[in-house]
Amino acid sequence: MDRIVHDGMMNDQRQRTCAEFERRFDRPPEWVAIAPGRVNLIGEHVDYCGGSVLPMAIERYTMIAAAPRPAAAGSASGRVFSTAVGATAEIPIGPTGGTAGDPGGDPAGAMAGAMAVSTGLPGWTHYLHGVIAGFLARGAAVPAFDAVVDSTVPLGGGLSSSASLEVALATLLAAVSDTRIEPLDLALLCQRAEHDFAGVPCGVMDQCASVLCTADHLLLLDCRSLTATQVPFAREDLLVLVTNSNVRHALNDGEYGRRRSDCEQAARVLAVPLLRDATLAQVEAAREALGPRVHARARHVVTEIDRTRRAADAIAAGRWAELGLLMAESHASLRDDYEVSCPELDLLVDLAAAERGVIGTRMTGGGFGGCTVTLVEAAHAQAVMDRVAQEYRRHTGRECTMFTTRPAQGAMIQTTPRPA
Ligand code: GLA
Repeated sequence: MDRIVHDGMMNDQRQRTCAEFERRFDRPPEWVAIAPGRVNLIGEHVDYCGGSVLPMAIERYTMIAAAPRPAAAGSASGRVFSTAVGATAEIPIGPTGGTAGDPGGDPAGAMAGAMAVSTGLPGWTHYLHGVIAGFLARGAAVPAFDAVVDSTVPLGGGLSSSASLEVALATLLAAVSDTRIEPLDLALLCQRAEHDFAGVPCGVMDQCASVLCTADHLLLLDCRSLTATQVPFAREDLLVLVTNSNVRHALNDGEYGRRRSDCEQAARVLAVPLLRDATLAQVEAAREALGPRVHARARHVVTEIDRTRRAADAIAAGRWAELGLLMAESHASLRDDYEVSCPELDLLVDLAAAERGVIGTRMTGGGFGGCTVTLVEAAHAQAVMDRVAQEYRRHTGRECTMFTTRPAQGAMIQTTPRPA
């Protein structure tokens, strides 16, 4: 039932996006690229340390309806209307836009060089610009195109709205430019777009989740080897509840980068290539050398990597109580050692943890606001949602927003039927 309702939402969104395309561009679209947001069950702030993460795609999507557009040689561009912003941006494709890399050269270098060009466009287009640059750097022939972007992934809520935008466009460009690209390479291209064009030094989890997740599975991703294991998670009696605190504190970009460099420093002091190579015993033995802050950061990472492995085992064996404890420990570690939580997230976690039918709950994503993830027995989900929303309002004067989801399908592309 739930699944049918959610599929209906996806169809509505597709129809809406296609209708908007026709209205804007006076012809039907030829493709619709669809990429989901993600929620991470456990394994937070470990991807850039080479650890394992356990996200799933959510039933919230970024969709791009598009069609090619004839253009004079040398003046190709992507004309993209965003329903969220209510504006069209024209993104140059190719040498005129300064984004073309040397196909035989270093894609990273080519894209980094294009950064300055991208800053002349509004913020939301940086992701798109970065993805186009990534395809050009691979030597792809990206044609001129028109597109409409629509998203049901809450923007800036820590559910990978930006990764889903990047992945939707990359999925579209692979089709329009007839480029064969492995799913993992596509995710890495999107991650690079985010680094070089949006200036966020993110790990690889979000883009991989949007590309590689499959319906009814969690994705256990080893972020060093990039080995992906699909963990079945298709229980009718359990729901994943996402609760958006609707707060976003002091811009997390700088803090995110600082966490990342703390981890790099810890790895240097411990003389390991990545923090995932360190044991808790090593971290404890180096407490003095690391200093209090970096020691706490490192302790979070090594314990979280261990929790993620145990959580995947617990899920496979149906040991839900154990999973709940691991999620609680993860939240405490993110709050106390990693210092990426905030009072609103802590409150949401405390409120949900006290409710009947809740298996586990914790903050999810980068932190400093955004969402919590709660695993809840389906029979109790509505009562939990009502109570948490009410108490959150009472304590903070704010509204939280909530939805339940089952693990959704990663990125896909559909061709729309052409009129006869
Ligand atoms: C953000 C980043 C991810 C990951 C998470 C924290 O979502 O984009 O790469 O580091 O934060 O787990």
